This record gives sequence, structure tokens and C-alpha cells, in this order.
Amino acid sequence: MAEITGIADITDPTDVAAVTVNGAPLPLDGVTPHTTALDFLRDRGLTGAKEGCAEGECGACCVLVARPPADGSPGAEWTSINACLVSAASLSGQEVVTSEGLGTPADLHPVQREMAERGGSQCGYCTPGFVCSMAAEFYRADRVPTPSTNGTRPVDTGGNGFDLHALTGNLCRCTGYRPIRDAAYALTEPAADDPLAVRRHAPAPTATPTRIDADGATFVRPEGLSDALRILADGEATPVAGATDLGVEINLRGSRPSLLLAIDRLEALRELRWADDELRIGAALTLTEIERRLAGRVPVLDELFWQFASRPVRNGATLGGNLGTGSPIGDSAPVLLALDADVVLVSTGGERRVPLADYFTGYRTSVRRAEELIKEVVVPLPLAPLTAFHKVAKRRYDDISSVAVGFALDVADGVVRSARIGLGGVAATPLRARATENTLTGRPWTDETVDAAAAVLASEGTPIDDQRSSARYRSAMLGQALRRLFAEVSGDE
Ligand code: FES
Ligand code: FES
Repeated sequence: MAEITGIADITDPTDVAAVTVNGAPLPLDGVTPHTTALDFLRDRGLTGAKEGCAEGECGACCVLVARPPADGSPGAEWTSINACLVSAASLSGQEVVTSEGLGTPADLHPVQREMAERGGSQCGYCTPGFVCSMAAEFYRADRVPTPSTNGTRPVDTGGNGFDLHALTGNLCRCTGYRPIRDAAYALTEPAADDPLAVRRHAPAPTATPTRIDADGATFVRPEGLSDALRILADGEATPVAGATDLGVEINLRGSRPSLLLAIDRLEALRELRWADDELRIGAALTLTEIERRLAGRVPVLDELFWQFASRPVRNGATLGGNLGTGSPIGDSAPVLLALDADVVLVSTGGERRVPLADYFTGYRTSVRRAEELIKEVVVPLPLAPLTAFHKVAKRRYDDISSVAVGFALDVADGVVRSARIGLGGVAATPLRARATENTLTGRPWTDETVDAAAAVLASEGTPIDDQRSSARYRSAMLGQALRRLFAEVSGDE
């Protein structure tokens, strides 16, 4: 594929694109690029996975896919994903296991057995999705049977190392969560000869170049970044990584891009590098991969991750995607604004670096040109000593922010030396709270200063009333976020 100059030069490099499901290959030729993995599986009789919401919120559609381990170690990791969001075409060459592939009524998988014995299923609609998410955690290689803490994230385990955050993307309307939790906490280690446990020791499938044409649309997975950029320069392609946003547009809003360009496995977008003065995070790393690889070294990101949607969504969602959509309520922007991050944009013409504070230009618009991709996010080091992320939403997990605030303050000898505050949900774009920053900087870190700054913070942005919150509530929560930060730092309950 070295001579590729655009989409016209790409042919299907495989004889027949296919995905391996429960050990058997299922051909993908003729499958429309907009067909979700969920519809593809169900159309082939694998009806365990269900459609509840078609937008990544309920988890009824969860299946397992063999991915390279999120922490970068060798082998494979069974990862729970929302089959309603990803296209079937994007799974070409991959290995998928559905609830049908885990066990049978006569020979239940340990997860299925615990769910059945502990009353974890009533109507059963959500159960296959729960079982797949639970199985992903069951097989997590670094699950250790001790209670653990992970940075600032609340972790609650039953002593078997099971992290219930694995289930935050699975909703059940009729069983109640206690028996489901009991099933999770009853799990032991996989048996030594468990085939899915054994499978973890061999490398996960690589993402092979793919082209699938059907119904006037095309899905392309190019070999490398230069191919992707040339296709993008032709002007027709819609880049897609985890599809956690685009999948919703396709399912619920009828979007039908004619050319889907898969960028999620481009190695040039998947590096994480530390230097003395900066941290570079590849735009196509999933949030789970970033979380596991940083392992708490950027505390405010650690505060962000567990509040960002759900585990299955974070297994697909990327920082590049969250910034690339330009959403005013994307949770990563307030944190990255507080960290004073830059984005690196790349095209066939080269790279340019843009401060994130200058990146957003309006509602879902940015300075990124159509032929550019976000290559990486650059966080300057050292980090501010006092950082925090406050998300206000109706649910603790698996919800969209009403408002979100990222703080990065340097307080020394009782004086605020510098302050950066990023906001989401209070304007058409994420933004810096400049007036509040100015109010804080150089002032003593006291009740009086915080009260004055909180009043300024409550007036930042132009919040609106919508179904999630009123404008008044949003403003009130902004001011309250700073007071809460001060109270937490002061040890004042
Ligand atoms: Fe609800 Fe996929 S159908 S998350
Ligand atoms: Fe009925 Fe969960 S068992 S929705």
C-alpha cells in the first residue's frame, strides 16, 4: 500500500474481510459500513446481546473483544465494548466473544453461574451485557484479590479484586444491583485451562488494513498515518476512532457518512511519552489505556477517568475524539484546559501545535481543518501542585455533565501563585475561567478570597437552561465547586 494517494488507490487487501466470533469466522463482505456490530451479530442469530438505547448508555449490547492489554503489556486482554456503537466493519480481523460463546445452559461460564445462583437476572434483557462486562473484569490479568485504591478513584471490592467500575456501563431495570454485585464478588480466579484465560497469553490480533464497500459507502482502515492523511486530504472521509460519538449520530440521528476512515489503531496516534518538561498522550489511545498507563501519575486525570461515561465507553473513547467533536460538555476539555494542554494537529502539510485554550471556536467547531487529525495532546510539566476535577451530573456514573470544572492551582506560603480553571457545560465551547483566575492569582488562599472568586466564577460563561439543568443551577454549581475545593484542601467537611 506504499503508493496510496487516496481512497481510489485502496483495494481490499484481504481475500474476504471477516471477524472471528466465538471461534468461527463470519464474513464481512457486503456488510454496510454503517451496520453496527450489534445488528451484525443479531442478524446472524447471536441474539444474546440486546439493543436497549443504541447510544452507549445501557450496556445491554456489550460483547468481548481481544485487544492488546490496556497497560501496554504483551498478550491479549478481553475488553468489554458497546456493540451498538462500533461498526461491524471495524472489527475486521478481530476476535469477538458474545455471551453465547462464554458458556451454554449445560456448561455455564463461572460468571453466568454466579449470576444465576445469586439471583442476578430477572427479565434477562440486560443480563448478557452484564455477563460480558463481568467476564472482562473476571479475566483482567492484574485483578488481585485484595482491596485496592487507585489514585483518587473510589474502589470497592469484595476481597476478590473485582472492580465494580467494570459494571458502570450496565444498567438493570428490574433485578436490583445487590445480587449482581454479589455475583461479581463471588468470582474466583479463572481455571488454568479456561480457554479465554489461556487466550490472553498470545498477542491480540493486529488491526489489518481493510476496505469494505457496500450500499454506496466505504469503510477503510489504512495501514499508516500517511495513508490516512492522504485519504483525509481528498475531502470526503469521516475519521472514526472509538465511535462513541459517531455511533450515536449514525444510530439516532440518521448520519450516513459515505467514507469512514478508521484511525483508532494508527500507531503514530497511540504513543504515550514522558519527557522532563511535557507529557505527550496519543490522540487514539483509549481512555482506559491512558488510565492504566498513567497509573495515577497525573492525579487530576485519574479523577476524571472514573467519572467519564462508563468502562465500556472508555474502552473505545479517545482523547482525540472527545476534543475532536468540539462538544461543550466533553469531560476531558475542562481538565486539559486547567493543565494548559496543547493539541498537535497533523495533515499532509505537516504538524502544528495549538493551545487548547485557542482550539475551540464555537458550538462543536474548532480550528482543526477537515484535512487534519489530532495527533496528540501535550501536557506541560511539572503539574500544578493542587489539581481537581468536579463533575456535576444527575448520576455519579454513566452520565453527561451539567457542568464540569478542572482546577490547577499553585498555592505556596498561603498565597495563590497561579490559577488555571477549565469549564465545561456553561457556554457553546469549553473555556478558561480567566476572570476567576485573575481574582485568585496573587491573593491569600483564604475564605475571603475564595468567596470573592467563587462569586466571579459563578458569573463565568453563558449557561443555558436545558433538560439537564437550569442556567441558575449551573452558575451556582460553578461557585460551589471552588468553595468545595477550598473546603477539601482545608480539611473542612
Ligand atoms: Fe445501550 Fe448499546 S444498546 S449501550
Ligand atoms: Fe431485567 Fe436487568 S434483569 S433489566
